[in-house]
Amino acid sequence: MTTETINAAAAGTWQLGDLTVNRIGFGAMRLTQHGPAFAGDSTPSDRNRAIAVLRRAVELGVNHIDTASFYFSALRSANELINSALAPYSDELVITTKVGPGRGPSGAWLPHATPEQLRGQVEENLRQLGRDHLDVVNLRILGTASIAERFGALAELREAGLIRHLGLSNITAEHLAEAQAIAPVVCVQNRYSLDSRHAGSDELLRSCGEQGIAFVPFFAIAGDGRAAGATEAERAEVLAVARAHGASPAQVRLAWTLQCGPHVLAIPGTGNPDHLVENVAAGALRLSSEELAQLESVGAGDE
Ligand SMILES: NC(=O)c1ccc[n+]([C@@H]2O[C@H](COP(=O)([O-])OP(=O)(O)OC[C@H]3O[C@@H](n4cnc5c(N)ncnc54)[C@H](OP(=O)(O)O)[C@@H]3O)[C@@H](O)[C@H]2O)c1
Repeated sequence: MTTETINAAAAGTWQLGDLTVNRIGFGAMRLTQHGPAFAGDSTPSDRNRAIAVLRRAVELGVNHIDTASFYFSALRSANELINSALAPYSDELVITTKVGPGRGPSGAWLPHATPEQLRGQVEENLRQLGRDHLDVVNLRILGTASIAERFGALAELREAGLIRHLGLSNITAEHLAEAQAIAPVVCVQNRYSLDSRHAGSDELLRSCGEQGIAFVPFFAIAGDGRAAGATEAERAEVLAVARAHGASPAQVRLAWTLQCGPHVLAIPGTGNPDHLVENVAAGALRLSSEELAQLESVGAGDE
């Protein structure tokens, strides 16, 4: 594929509430270190390179950036990089962040935020991003416990004007229904890729589409590599489709993701400027129904 001139608008747009975003966005988790995310001994990224990636993303039409205050390495913070690279922010830019988990100054994970602590996490994001409100805040969940109290606390912050729209992450259909009884949900951010699908996740993706809710997969490229990142060893089916299009395996994974439905948004994460250009260009790659079936065979029934 000729990639340099392809804009993030190539894959079309979706509405997050009243906010319009291009379906190819950007995930900020890979900006702060080389190698695996959250590894205590990781090498902090080059600051200028990370800032250049963010600015180039926006130049290429990316207007949906996913972040979190807990995306940091010893010397870099994703939110600080976004602020330095992109403020003052354009009205078109939508920054989505997530609360729930937290990390202490040394990087150790903290227990999940209580309803009272969620306000502090929202304010931390506001300070770091340099904003007076957050466009979209996802409540990131671990486990199956009720989310009513925590989602209710975020709904109050939304009413107070600190948050424009709410989403959920790492959830089940039951969580979604529970949250929707409290406040509108504009997006669901769950792990979903060619190699990490199961009947429940397929069903949740479909159900989000029926309700006009964005489904935003993470690890679409990394797949089974998860936080460790993409692996060299790619599946034969992905390689075959990539060869047929003169595309990279990462582009095929993103194109497959986007063809899961018009409400599916991609947020590929990279600290590499060449990968960024490639990922944005994947929005123009269209796979045939035969190719989609070939790729579907990779992960059907897997978790
Ligand atoms: N809600 C949640 O619980 C949750 C969890 C995880 C992530 N997220 C969000 O989702 C975003 C996406 O997840 P992710 O960043 O882990 O995974 P990803 O986009 O699936 O893959 C990132 C990995 O693939 C590599 N990569 C990216 N583009 C590539 C390309 N064109 N060719 C080859 N390798 C490429 C990256 O390394 P390079 O840097 O070397 O390109 C990195 O190793 C994150 O950035 C974060 O914002 C949310």
